Amino acid sequence: MQQSKTIPLVEPWLPPAYADVVRDQILSGLIGPGKRSQEFARALANYVGAPSCLLTVSGTVALSVAASALGLEAGDEILVPAYGVISTINAFASIGLSPKLVDIDRTGCMSPDQLSQNISKKTRAVCFVNFSGYTGPNLVTIKQICDAAGLPLIEDAACALGHSYQGIHAGMFGTIGIYSFSTPKVLTTGQGGALVSSNPKFFDEAAAFIDQGDLEWRKTNLNRGIGSNLRFNDILSSLGHCQLTDLNHRLEKRREIYDILKEQLGQFIFSVPGQQAPLHNIVFTKQPDLLVETLKQQGISAIRQYRTLCEHPAYHQLAQQTYSNADFWTKHAVYLPFGMTLTPEDAHYIAQVIKNSGIMLI
Ligand SMILES: Cc1ncc(COP(=O)(O)O)c(C=O)c1O
Repeated sequence: MQQSKTIPLVEPWLPPAYADVVRDQILSGLIGPGKRSQEFARALANYVGAPSCLLTVSGTVALSVAASALGLEAGDEILVPAYGVISTINAFASIGLSPKLVDIDRTGCMSPDQLSQNISKKTRAVCFVNFSGYTGPNLVTIKQICDAAGLPLIEDAACALGHSYQGIHAGMFGTIGIYSFSTPKVLTTGQGGALVSSNPKFFDEAAAFIDQGDLEWRKTNLNRGIGSNLRFNDILSSLGHCQLTDLNHRLEKRREIYDILKEQLGQFIFSVPGQQAPLHNIVFTKQPDLLVETLKQQGISAIRQYRTLCEHPAYHQLAQQTYSNADFWTKHAVYLPFGMTLTPEDAHYIAQVIKNSGIMLI
């Protein structure tokens, strides 16, 4: 059954038509942050139902900017999920905030119960990660808990563009929401990110911060605030915009592959609520290393990704509590290929190799 090609863990799908659009943008000479970026931002805002949208250089930076726009300052405590990508916690710790971990639940997202138990007088904000696209009832509960406690909610929808719940798009539940356009995402510009907020105050704070601290400085030649230059550019916006126009097709392509895995592996493949497929194709087993190795032998790249965040040396000091669900994910989750170039044949093959391996999924 061994096949000749290797199935990569993740690969972007970039048809030649996208390259033509980018080529035209380059030949126009307009390559900085300009009209094309404004158009892409407006289209993205329309898509998710936001009043406006701010493009920036990465999802990680978008999270840092969100925290600054909310007025969070060095030493302020922000609650983050105990399991997942390093970017979320790094975004806050790198600007001097004091992250505190909250255990996740079976959704892979922060548990509402655990959140309630961890809010204290010191807490200044909460960051919910829409894990692998999750956009569902727990997010509504988390928002209610934050509102009741008077805490701003940063919604890290880096992996959730295209997901929605009760007619509200991922990213629009939080006080500020963010997206990432890094390579594994359904819409990718290689690197890039965006922020959305329904509150013009926070939006304006963020917009000024990414453009030297003052939106008027080019006209006035006087800067009233301190900021940086974290703006996006028109070349990458042209690449992002054509994918946004194509987003439904891109989401369907993912769904088709996920549906095959789901049909073959049933309850053993991780799922999220709603119409869209999760970003990742995840299974759980008591023998994760053996599964990864077995898949590798058959030309399939899979990995054990992410861990309980306090296992990273940089965050050992956060290990004051135990995070049993985060530890379960760390020990048992295996991430199968999830790129947009996966074919239906690849999906059948991956499922078949897992079934034939005799390795039990849990
Ligand atoms: C949940 C989550 N948050 C934040 C980020 C950071 O995004 P970026 O890689 O664009 O900085 C990622 C990236 O993978 C992510 O998955």
